[in-house]
Amino acid sequence: MRIDIISVLPELLESPLSHSIMKRAQAKGLLEVHLHPLRSYSTLKHGQVDDYQFGGGAGMVMMLEPIVNCIESLQAQVQYDEIIYLTPDGETLNQKMANSLSMKGNLLLLCGHYKGIDQRIRDHFITKEISIGDYVLSGGELGAAVLVDAIGRLLPGVLNDETSALFDSFQDNLLAPPVYTRPVDFRGWKVPDILLSGDHKKIEDWRHQQAVERTQARRPDLL
Ligand code: ADE
Repeated sequence: MRIDIISVLPELLESPLSHSIMKRAQAKGLLEVHLHPLRSYSTLKHGQVDDYQFGGGAGMVMMLEPIVNCIESLQAQVQYDEIIYLTPDGETLNQKMANSLSMKGNLLLLCGHYKGIDQRIRDHFITKEISIGDYVLSGGELGAAVLVDAIGRLLPGVLNDETSALFDSFQDNLLAPPVYTRPVDFRGWKVPDILLSGDHKKIEDWRHQQAVERTQARRPDLL
């Protein structure tokens, strides 16, 4: 899968995408991420990419031209399945959306800043708008990093069997059950006996029951 990201602050994305599982996905050739600094597509001196909004009001708006220049020069090389704008008024990201995006070939992500982007970009280029939650970030970069991580770890071959995405919270609309590791007894806080029993069927049933109880208690809306 190839993901291109257009941003005024590509540095913000470098670290989250170059460690751990995202690093492995790219090293294995399963994920290719390309960052595109928007300022280098500016038509104005000093690399200006924002301007005052028509109608007045506080806050700058990201201008059309640099974004159009950047998107069109990328489109000349890559056929995108989706052009995604990260914005707090987009559809809220969930596991189902991540699953479905992980099956695409090429994605282009656009990170907003300030008051957002000129509406005409949204009308004529953007095919999907995604929010990572009901709060406002100072830009779309952290949202893009979250989205790439959520998608990247689902690509076949990225995770090994033990960390398989199949067992994640949300994959079957249930939160994950509690997990334990050594020592068996720490200050009298014991690992549940069932997990030490060696009875795989019983352990599986217990985990499922715990997952259901946890979901009922914390996220009944998922059931
Ligand atoms: N940009 C600013 N806030 C955002 C959010 N909640 N999700 C995605 N992009 C954003």
